[in-house]
Amino acid sequence: MAVQISPSLLSADFADLGGAARSVPSADWLHVDVMDNHFVPNLTIGLPVVEALARAAAQPLDCHLMIDDPDQWAPAYVEAGASSVTFHVEAARAPVRLARELRTAHARAGMALRPTTAIEPYAELLPELDMLLVMTVEPGFGGQQFLDLCLPKIRRARALIADSGAELWLQVDGGVSAETIERCADAGADVFVAGSAVFGADDPEAAIADLRQLATSACAH
Ligand code: DX5
Ligand code: ZN
Repeated sequence: MAVQISPSLLSADFADLGGAARSVPSADWLHVDVMDNHFVPNLTIGLPVVEALARAAAQPLDCHLMIDDPDQWAPAYVEAGASSVTFHVEAARAPVRLARELRTAHARAGMALRPTTAIEPYAELLPELDMLLVMTVEPGFGGQQFLDLCLPKIRRARALIADSGAELWLQVDGGVSAETIERCADAGADVFVAGSAVFGADDPEAAIADLRQLATSACAH
């Protein structure tokens, strides 16, 4: 699959999210980090802002829910206009039921793993998903340092996806930059979230083009 870039609005100007969306027309997705101050020690945006973004943005929304009780809340993000909804498996009570519910609502179903959560216990549920997110920092904040210790898990996840025969995207999120994206692509990732590397750049569009090119050539090897 072609490389996809999903800039994280967490590093954008929260007072001008519409402008941030318009500043990255080449983005395949807009990554929206929903945090509840319980699952992670930070509080960001919720349903009303996602609804407003869905009206204002041309790109589809990739909602990353860092919240407790996603079983209760995740489907509402589809109703709010998200095209892809990713829940954390550490927080979900019934991940298979939840993934099915998201798909039934015509969204892509994503499941996220914290850096220290293993993929192996979840190998059987991969066919229930459209995307697996391997976090490459502890979730909660932008601008953290990429954790190289996650690379072997990306590789193992890619192998399990291949074994499953399912058509899953493999997303990485956290510390993804021009310095680290090739390592992720080489390990098997194909969807790249980047917050500070895009919205912290002088020219966000040029940063996306650069990331895309680096990942594409690393995938080709
Ligand atoms: C962190 C969020 C990320 C964050 C990434 O918990 O899930 O999406 O915005 O930011 P950078 O790319 O700056 O590490
Ligand atoms: Zn995220």
